Amino acid sequence: MTAPLTTPSARGVASGDGVPFPTRRDVWELRWAPRWQRDGVLNLKSCELRHPTASRLVRAAADRLTPDDLTCYPYQQALLADLRDHHGHEPSGILLTAGSDSAVGLVVDALAAGGAGLILHEPTFESWRYYAALRAVPVVGCAALDAGAARLDVSRLHSTMADHPPAVVVVTNPGSPSGLLLSPEQIAETAEAARRAGHLLVIDECYGAFTGVTHVPLVASAPHLLVVCSYSKTFGLAGARVASVLGSPALVAYLSRFRPDSTVSATALALLRAVLRERDAFAEVWRDVRAIRSAFVRDVLAGHPGWSALDPGGNYVTFRTGDRAVPGRMTRHLDDHDVRVRPLDGIPGLEGCLRVSLADAPAMRRVAALMRDVR
Ligand SMILES: Cc1ncc(COP(=O)(O)O)c(C=O)c1O
Repeated sequence: MTAPLTTPSARGVASGDGVPFPTRRDVWELRWAPRWQRDGVLNLKSCELRHPTASRLVRAAADRLTPDDLTCYPYQQALLADLRDHHGHEPSGILLTAGSDSAVGLVVDALAAGGAGLILHEPTFESWRYYAALRAVPVVGCAALDAGAARLDVSRLHSTMADHPPAVVVVTNPGSPSGLLLSPEQIAETAEAARRAGHLLVIDECYGAFTGVTHVPLVASAPHLLVVCSYSKTFGLAGARVASVLGSPALVAYLSRFRPDSTVSATALALLRAVLRERDAFAEVWRDVRAIRSAFVRDVLAGHPGWSALDPGGNYVTFRTGDRAVPGRMTRHLDDHDVRVRPLDGIPGLEGCLRVSLADAPAMRRVAALMRDVR
């Protein structure tokens, strides 16, 4: 019998010595590890949607799968029509991808590689830098946060954009992992600054459902804009791997040449179609996640009055603890109690920060109680 794989180290080969073919040294140098988790752990690190109603709705969607959803190739037209109603955007401007992580890789390949490069409003989702490194795409990072700040700055981003040749500019709104929100005015100014300088602007709104924010309506008057939407968090489909990129029909036609349609499974399409029919019930889930977040923040700050929460967040809370040692200490303490969270201390602008994603209300009361133990 084969021993069960208990740690990721079995695939931790770190050089091409064992590969009888030339491989790229710069690729070996990228930090990569497979997703891995101990049994019985409550994962509050990855911002999956953990809510009892969402689980029930996803379960019901899975029960409705048919053999065709497994035996036939994926046909997207019915889902694209449903997404038109959901996003208020024409199907020819919607590109489905196998999660927004792969949308990031696609945008880097299709638009940033070959000379344009990336301008990132940071801190942001780490996959942007990862895929850029994989394709040797140059990256300019613009700090969105001063140490200790509770608001996002766009002035550095705008001055970089003004001086830089046309590039792909990326902002995430609501910000992740910061949890802070760019105002509609800041977004409008950024879109205008991008248009003036000939940049393509990508807005990742992965957590928009939890704050009622969407940038999709802007696309109609901004052919240089792409909006990335993930259904992992919004509809609890992180395991199904399905997301979309919304833009002008011309941009989407160009991106389609990279064939993401062949990587989104018929099963994922069917699940997304089914949960879209439950949009009102999910809207109730998003509201409840906000209520769970408020109660959790209250509980945690009652035990740590010197901390603050970066609002509005998403289905997660980023705490500023004011002490660079606390995030690591707290992460280890919670890990000892089978709860996994994300220390953010190493990220510029988020020194002393810790991110906790949300589960149901009783679980979050338990986590808040555990967090009282660490000073
Ligand atoms: C800001 C942001 N964008 C994109 C993603 C990727 O989501 P997915 O690939 O599940 O759609 C994440 C995941 O945590 C994220 O935090």
